[in-house]
Amino acid sequence: MRVVRGRRSGVVIAVAVHSTQAGPAIGGCRIKPYPGWRDGVDDVVRLARAMTEKAALAGLRHGGGKAVIMDADAVLDERHRLLVLEDLAEVITSLDGAYLTGPDIGSAPADMEIIHRLTGGLAFCRPESSGGSGNSSIATAHGVLAALEAAVDHVFGTGALAGLRVGVIGYGSVGRLVADELAARGCAVTTGDLDESRRATAEAAGLTWSAEDLLGEEFDVLVPAAVGGLLSEERARTCRAGLIVGPANNQLTHDDVASTLHERGITWVPDVVASAGGIIHAVCREELGLTEEETTPRIRAIGTTVTEILTGARDSGTTPQAAARDLAARRRTAVPA
Ligand code: PHE
Repeated sequence: MRVVRGRRSGVVIAVAVHSTQAGPAIGGCRIKPYPGWRDGVDDVVRLARAMTEKAALAGLRHGGGKAVIMDADAVLDERHRLLVLEDLAEVITSLDGAYLTGPDIGSAPADMEIIHRLTGGLAFCRPESSGGSGNSSIATAHGVLAALEAAVDHVFGTGALAGLRVGVIGYGSVGRLVADELAARGCAVTTGDLDESRRATAEAAGLTWSAEDLLGEEFDVLVPAAVGGLLSEERARTCRAGLIVGPANNQLTHDDVASTLHERGITWVPDVVASAGGIIHAVCREELGLTEEETTPRIRAIGTTVTEILTGARDSGTTPQAAARDLAARRRTAVPA
């Protein structure tokens, strides 16, 4: 773990490497404000740990890591953003290849291009025009849809999505792709986002916009696609969805929340499984040299993993979280693809 105050930017940057057992740690660079630097450090540690599990469940030869840049305002201005990225690149370089970064909340392929250049290649998802695999949001959304289809099949006994009432929390880069696609497939989709300026686009796509707390509303499927920490013990006790599956990282405030959801008959698909499309796509395209056609089935395989986890949980009477951990441990010791 490295926590530095960037000597060029003055911004606090934390990089956590949770595991390099299976290979170099992989995980995105998150740029957002935190109440204090301690909160950012706690977050990066949790996020890095989740990436280890995510990579193992995705069958990748990688461990987990994450970077957070604890400011949002400081990077609004292009010149200052460059200074922040230079500071981050210095930290990444000092880790000698143990950590490979990628885009996450607040960062984009253009940032990855800069980090890639400054670190001599330690960043995924540069723009396609620069030889990278580009924006990972589309692949992440495909992975979420594969997870959602498999989970709907498991919970409701039918693969048909038409007619389902779906709530999508967050209409950002991944949330909007998932929400629009579900609406196109005949689901009744309600969405909301702290950023009200997204409302017009959502409504134009045929979605219902809501400023209400979607966690308290009744849905067949709830898709958390905003920042994590949505499901606290208390919220899990009042949540009214049948199934929860979405790309937001670290959706539970605490591990015990998984049991609360389970006891209330709510099926929760661990975010480490549902959100893996982005890293699978980046690694397949940039590291394994696979084509788009060869990569797609690898992303779709998230559905098979979800089925395996939910069936395992049902058969053994455990939570999907416990079943996912179990599967991650088994996949880690198996020879990864
Ligand atoms: N935001 C991605 C994730 O959490 C991070 C990422 C994407 C990292 C692509 C590398 C490549 O999975």
